[in-house]
Amino acid sequence: MTSITRQDPLHYLGDEIEGLKTQGLYRHLRILDDEQRAHTTVDGRSVVNLSSNNYLGLTTHPRLRERALEAIRQFGVGSGSVRTIAGTMAIHMELERRLAEFKHTEAVVVFQSGFTANAGTVSSILTREDVVVSDALNHASIIDGSRLSRAAIKVFPHKDIDAARAILRDLPPSQRKLLITDGVFSMDGDLGPLPALCDLAEEFGCIMMVDDAHASGVFGKNGRGTVDHFGMHGRVDVQVGTLSKAIGGLGGYVAGSRDLIDFLHHRARPFLFSTSHPPAVAAACIAALDVLVEEPQLIEQLWENTRFFKAGLEAHGFNTGISESPITPVIVGDGTLAMKLSDRLFEEGVFAQGIAFPTVAKDKARVRTIVTATHTRDDLQFALDVFKRVGGELGII
Ligand SMILES: Cc1ncc(COP(=O)(O)O)c(C=O)c1O
Repeated sequence: MTSITRQDPLHYLGDEIEGLKTQGLYRHLRILDDEQRAHTTVDGRSVVNLSSNNYLGLTTHPRLRERALEAIRQFGVGSGSVRTIAGTMAIHMELERRLAEFKHTEAVVVFQSGFTANAGTVSSILTREDVVVSDALNHASIIDGSRLSRAAIKVFPHKDIDAARAILRDLPPSQRKLLITDGVFSMDGDLGPLPALCDLAEEFGCIMMVDDAHASGVFGKNGRGTVDHFGMHGRVDVQVGTLSKAIGGLGGYVAGSRDLIDFLHHRARPFLFSTSHPPAVAAACIAALDVLVEEPQLIEQLWENTRFFKAGLEAHGFNTGISESPITPVIVGDGTLAMKLSDRLFEEGVFAQGIAFPTVAKDKARVRTIVTATHTRDDLQFALDVFKRVGGELGII
């Protein structure tokens, strides 16, 4: 028998990885040894955690934990099927009914993640005859959904309403158009200009869609999102929210008209071709909705912590960009420097991830911080002191 020496057809991936290492951009996954908390243990080190999206501390809230455990005892650990075959459990329907009530919309459909909610929706409601008009900094799941739809993609510079209008003006009035923005932009923490975009959508007859992943549980009354925050109820046709960040569990959802939701039941591919949530996740998310309504002090504390921390960073002379939310970037420009800052902070007991190209522009590398309602004043003061010391040492401030 002759042995064939086979060259690894994936060898080019190793070259890519070497390139990342040379540029100082190669990242090891940090491993959480404990629960997802404001102060926790990561890679064996006790740290103040400024990297999670656990805005309200709900990942470990006792009411969510109990409801999840109860659901496991009552319904088991898995749903065993996709929604359209045998995987729609009563608890999935209850979660969707509760979300629709919370969002003041006719109906809601839950997806496995915020990513699949965006990608599955945009790709199914548009065809190659249509156009997506999209903010330059919209989330990757919107970009992927747009590509999958095969619609033409027109990108306007970040929050540039005049540029969006110029694009819309050039399109035939009869062409179907989707105008889409993030509610809160995940890398800069600024808000999408929803009122002006809703005006534009009405002027040009667009479908208006907002991705409220980082606004869910953070903005609006009891965390109803940016549509509520800006008083835009009835003017946004498709609202996406996530259950994976402030809500503390996992999943994404689309809130809108009954027809929209019925259509997604029949055409959204992640809904049709991927198994539904374990019942414990649905139960925990229902408990989270109870907490949002009954414990509004969590959102108040989140905002108090946000104001304190942002003001502290600014007082130390850091560039925190244009944030309007609990996401506060510390922009340093160079990717290698951002990773160095993140590594030094970690050594000193502060976990804040470095973010570089291609996630953000090449000259806008940063360390991104997210405070939560459950950080104590001592946690935040400690983090500010470390930022000041390390920022000085690296010549950033
Ligand atoms: C703006 C935005 N949209 C959507 C998502 C996806 O949400 P999920 O983590 O639930 O998939 C994220 C999360 O990374 C996000 O930041």
